[in-house]
Amino acid sequence: MTITIAVANQKGGCAKTTTTVNLAAALAELKYKVLLIDLDPQANASQWLGAATDTPGVFDLFTTKVAVASLLVDTNTEGLSLLAGSRSLASIEKALAGELAVETRLKRRLAALESLAFDYVLIDTAPTLGLMTLNALCAAQQVLIPVTTHVMTLSGVAQLMQTFDDVKDVLNPQLSLLGLLPCRVDQRTRHSKDIIDALIEKFGEQVLVARIRENIRLAEAPSFGKSILQYQPNSSVAEDFRALAREVISHQSR
Ligand SMILES: Nc1ncnc2c1ncn2[C@@H]1O[C@H](COP(=O)(O)OP(=O)(O)OP(=O)(O)O)[C@@H](O)[C@H]1O
Ligand SMILES: [Mg+2]
Repeated sequence: MTITIAVANQKGGCAKTTTTVNLAAALAELKYKVLLIDLDPQANASQWLGAATDTPGVFDLFTTKVAVASLLVDTNTEGLSLLAGSRSLASIEKALAGELAVETRLKRRLAALESLAFDYVLIDTAPTLGLMTLNALCAAQQVLIPVTTHVMTLSGVAQLMQTFDDVKDVLNPQLSLLGLLPCRVDQRTRHSKDIIDALIEKFGEQVLVARIRENIRLAEAPSFGKSILQYQPNSSVAEDFRALAREVISHQSR
């Protein structure tokens, strides 16, 4: 069975793309078959994984009837395929105006991938709660919410939880919360710890055990077209993503 996970948080720059790319790579390293779907017009994940800007992908999936499998591209991480995002996604709402049930189009289109037997599909989303993010929440069974521990962002998380509840009520009753992931954790500062404590106080066990530490290598890796597991396989933060992958896997047997 394929587990589909949407990585979402409408706050910009809270490590969604970093989490999606490196968790995908960590799952692939464990020999799972993984697909990353980039629903963000910024297409940062696609660029990180080396896709050319004109690579066909999500826009074509939404606006044409072309076979989904033909839109997948390989990445330089073995076992990790990509369905690329592109700048054209910025105008997708206009392109789909007047069409029916567009919130669930991704979900319906992905059904055709069953025969490819992906173990995990990870969806990177834009920092908005627009149509593409709604599609991610409808296609997913689980939501992973990265939270940067640089700045207090609890109000944004509360807003996202509200959207999560609304989607669950109306469009996708099987949706569950995989968890909140503290990112950019700086163990030298009191501030990081205070934010994690506040998160745990408010959201309890919904906060994952995994922590992604602050590491400048993560900011460098995209320009080399490599996940952190390839770029700095022995770094502490590569270990953080491996630990996250193990926690995500163990979550599935709960
Ligand atoms: N653990 C980390 N250590 C150091 N830098 C990090 C870490 N995680 C993310 N960053 C940096 O923070 C910035 C934002 O990260 P990222 O692009 O993953 O966020 P995002 O939520 O996808 O942003 P957007 O909302 O624009 O899509 C990037 O420059 C990234 O390199
Ligand atoms: Mg991003």
